[in-house]
Order: sequence, then structure tokens, then C-alpha cells
Amino acid sequence: MKIDVATLFPEAFDGLKVGVVGKALAKGLFELRLHNIRDYSADKHRRCDDYPFGGGAGMLMTPQPLHDCINAIDPAHRARRIYLSPKGKTLTQRRVVELAGEEALLFVCGAYEGVDQRVIDLDIDEEMSIGDYVLTGGEIAAMAAINAISRYIPGVLGSEQSTDEESFSDGLLEYPQYTRPAVFNGVAVPDVLLSGNHAEVDKWRRARQLELTRKLRPDLLKGEDK
Ligand code: ADE
Repeated sequence: MKIDVATLFPEAFDGLKVGVVGKALAKGLFELRLHNIRDYSADKHRRCDDYPFGGGAGMLMTPQPLHDCINAIDPAHRARRIYLSPKGKTLTQRRVVELAGEEALLFVCGAYEGVDQRVIDLDIDEEMSIGDYVLTGGEIAAMAAINAISRYIPGVLGSEQSTDEESFSDGLLEYPQYTRPAVFNGVAVPDVLLSGNHAEVDKWRRARQLELTRKLRPDLLKGEDK
């Protein structure tokens, strides 16, 4: 998979160079290319913002640098072009899995109070939010999406890690997990996990998943046994 990012703050993406995603990038399991929108500004001071017509608080990103940047990166419009915005559809695990199947993604990060609407209308396929709160720009949202998507790229997670048995993979929260020691601070691991009886362990885990989901995220239980 190829992932391009258009941003005024490419250095923000240093956060993707660590851990599992950093290793995957170093191994070339997917490509991440960062593009500084400012490099495309035709303004002699490389400005990328201006006041909103009609008035209002703050500045907007002007259309020219963004439009030119997006179309220089993806001239034939082969990538799925995603603008990060609190107005977008909220990213879900299901959408993460779908996006992991795309050949090319282009994430466009806004800053200030947003971007000129014409860029969205002309150049963007979808707007994506990572939740109902407002960030100062799209960078953290793009990183969250890239991190989540990369986990579905073959080879990114080691064989000991898996996307099969985790929160949301089957619409439920994950069961609680324990490791050594068997007793910590006077609290023992549930007996069934030490029993070696895999069928009983599976039953226990499923019951905990349902119990936790019912308690913490009942909204996820549509169509499940409530
Ligand atoms: N940009 C600002 N806030 C955002 C959010 N919640 N999701 C995605 N992009 C954003």
C-alpha cells in the first residue's frame, strides 16, 4: 500500500516512526510519503492561509497550495483522497479494514479553521473524523487512521499478534487478559485460565466479552445477544 499525506507539518508524523508502525515502514511493508503543502504555495511569502470571506474567527487554508499539492501527488486520481475533519464520518474498525484494502490513500490535513470548501468539492473523495471533538489540525487524526490501517497490512503485526481476537473485531470489546504471576498483590488470575481446558477458556472469554460490552459499550450490542 502507498500512503501519501499532504500537511503543513510533516514533522508531526515522526510519531509514526516508532514501534510496530516504525518497524513496518523500515521493512518497506507499506510506503509513507509526506508532502509539505507550503512547498506548493505560489505566494512569494509561501502563505497558505487567509481571512474567511463573510468574516468570522480565524484563518482558512487557501485553495491554491492545497489543490496543487493534491494534484501533484496524485495526478491521475488513483488514490482514495481523504480529508480529515470533525465534519467527516467517524472512523470505525470496519472502515479501517476496508481502507486497508485500498492500493493508495491520500490523507489531506487541514489547519487553522479549516480549508476553502472548493478544495473539498474539487479534490476530496471523503471527509473523515476520528471522533466528536475538535483538534487543531488533521495530523493527529491522519496518524491515528494510518496506525489503525497499517495493522491490517500483511506482515505488520507479528504472528504472535493478531487482529482476530481484539476489541471490535467481532463487534465486541476484548476479554480481560492476564500474564504471570498467577497471584499479584493478592489478586489471583481466574482459575479457568490456568485449567488448560481450551473450550472452557473460550466460553469464559466470550462471556466476559458480552458482559464488558453490555456494561461499557451497550451501543455496540445491536443484534447481539443482550
Ligand atoms: N481535524 C480537527 N478535528 C478533527 C477530528 N475530530 N477528526 C478528524 N480531523 C480533525
